Amino acid sequence: MIKHIRIATILVVLCMAITAMAASKGNEGKGRYYFRQSCKSCHTKGAAGGEVTPLSKNMAQWRTYFATSKHMHGKEALSKTMPTEQLVDVQAFLVSHAADSLQPETCGK
Ligand code: HEC
Repeated sequence: MIKHIRIATILVVLCMAITAMAASKGNEGKGRYYFRQSCKSCHTKGAAGGEVTPLSKNMAQWRTYFATSKHMHGKEALSKTMPTEQLVDVQAFLVSHAADSLQPETCGK
C-alpha cells in the first residue's frame, strides 16, 4: 500500500516537472500567432520599427534579447508590447526559426 502511494507520488511529481518544462519552453505555434498579431504591426518594411523576422538574429542572439528583455534600443521593457507569458511563446517561435536554426524562416510572407 505504502509502496503504491510512493510510486503515485513520483508519477505526479514527474508529470508536474514535464508540464513545467513544456511551459517554460514556450509554444512555437502560439508564438508565431502573437508575433504576427503584435510585433508585425510595427515590424514590417517601412513601419515604425523596421523589418524584424526570425532571421534577424541567430538563436543565441534571440535568447539574449529575450533574457535582457529590453526593446527599442534599451529604452523600453519588451513586456510593454505583450504579456510575459506570450513573450515566452514568441521567443520559442523566433529561436526555432532563427538564422542559424534548423528551420530558418522569414515571417509574414
Ligand atoms: C508599437 C510598435 C512596436 C511593437 C508592437 C514592437 N516593436 Fe520592436 N521596435 C519598435 C521600434 C520603434 C524599434 C526601434 C527601431 C529603431 O529605431 O531601430 C523596435 C526595435 C526592435 C528590435 C531591434 C532591437 C531593439 O530593441 O532596438 C527588435 C529585435 C524588436 N523591436 C523586436 C520586437 C518584437 C519581438 C516585438 C513583439 C514582441 C516587437 N518588437 C514589438 C516598435 C515596436
